[in-house]
Amino acid sequence: MPELSVAVFATDKDQRTLLQVMVDGTSVARTVCSHSTMPLAANDPGIHKTKALSPDVVLVDIAINDEVTALRTMQFLHQEMPEAAVFAVGPMTQPQLIVNSMRTGVREYIKRPTSTTDLLEAFVRLTATRRKAGRETTKKGKVFAVVNAKGGSGATTVAVNLALALQNAHHNTALVDLAPMGHCALHLNLRPNFTVTDAVTNLHRLDASLLESFMVRHDHGLQVLAGPAIPRMMEPSTSDFARLFDTMVGMFQYIVVDVSSRLDGAARLASSLAEKILLIAHADVASLWSAARVAQYLGENGSRERFGLVLNRYRKVGGFNEAETEAAIGAPVLWRIPNQYFAVSAAIDRGVPVMQQGNSEISRSIAGLAEHLTKDDLDVKRSAWSLFKTV
Ligand SMILES: Nc1ncnc2c1ncn2[C@@H]1O[C@H](COP(=O)(O)OP(=O)(O)O)[C@@H](O)[C@H]1O
Ligand SMILES: [Mg+2]
Repeated sequence: MPELSVAVFATDKDQRTLLQVMVDGTSVARTVCSHSTMPLAANDPGIHKTKALSPDVVLVDIAINDEVTALRTMQFLHQEMPEAAVFAVGPMTQPQLIVNSMRTGVREYIKRPTSTTDLLEAFVRLTATRRKAGRETTKKGKVFAVVNAKGGSGATTVAVNLALALQNAHHNTALVDLAPMGHCALHLNLRPNFTVTDAVTNLHRLDASLLESFMVRHDHGLQVLAGPAIPRMMEPSTSDFARLFDTMVGMFQYIVVDVSSRLDGAARLASSLAEKILLIAHADVASLWSAARVAQYLGENGSRERFGLVLNRYRKVGGFNEAETEAAIGAPVLWRIPNQYFAVSAAIDRGVPVMQQGNSEISRSIAGLAEHLTKDDLDVKRSAWSLFKTV
């Protein structure tokens, strides 16, 4: 992840120190200057120094009992340094203060007390937006996160087959197994020597070639970063995962992440980086009830509009109202995958996914999902066109 430079403004000494420590603790950003005053005019010495450093982020702590000054400062900083993103830190209990802050041009309003994760997520969002803006030149890969409403809904099955479909159609695809216990390698009959944990714990020296050595290659070139075979006591931090994904988006065109039932900072990070979050559910009450809760948890950091519901093992049944379901979960039904128990369970047992077994109703469905997810991609469109021309 490219390092972001941060200028901190906080009148309270303890809060200023705390914010600096937390900014530096994210590992994706570092404090370049900090100020105890709230600049309001161009002749303020603090503003001169800050402008000279041209920070990516200006973090302003809204002091209790002096909200008005903080608001004026934020507006001033936003005008003086339009290239920098202004982040406010303040209480969540005053909606009007949040609204007023946003009106000054603040990009993120972060709750106080603040955690390193809150800051990290805001930094990741900023980097992701900037990346999107500069995609034409930087060309980073796209992440698709696959999450289940509850265990057994089919997240791993969809992730594995979707990754194969993307690899078949466009090449340069990776599958990352973030599930609490990794099953992807089993589905693909692979015997990995390393796992995601090895990759993230070696991040201080992680580069593309080292990361590749932690991955295992499947037929036709799909690269797999396997999950742990035993649940881990010690989990790497969210910022470690952020670095992993940053390296991966520079290496692969598509990255499918099997999140399965994982619900923690890493799952949230994968969701906030993802182009689409595929929420795999069955069309029954318990599954849809869970789906709504999972979407709420993973979508708290603003990824709600990127959720798509995938109804797995789908059959038309009376009484199931799709529009009501979409409204209750707050996500549209993106895809329906047919119920093919024998084909799917035999595929898992043999370690040969349905996508590899040629034409079937389920492989067509998943290939269709891959096509749907990539339909707006510039280079995908181009290759489809040239294929068409040669016919
Ligand atoms: N489309 C499908 N049709 C029939 N059975 C399926 C389908 N998708 C998944 N399954 C079955 O559901 C079980 C759980 O799938 P899995 O992908 O492991 O779910 P999750 O990762 O969400 O826990 C698998 O053993 C598989 O046999
Ligand atoms: Mg799974």
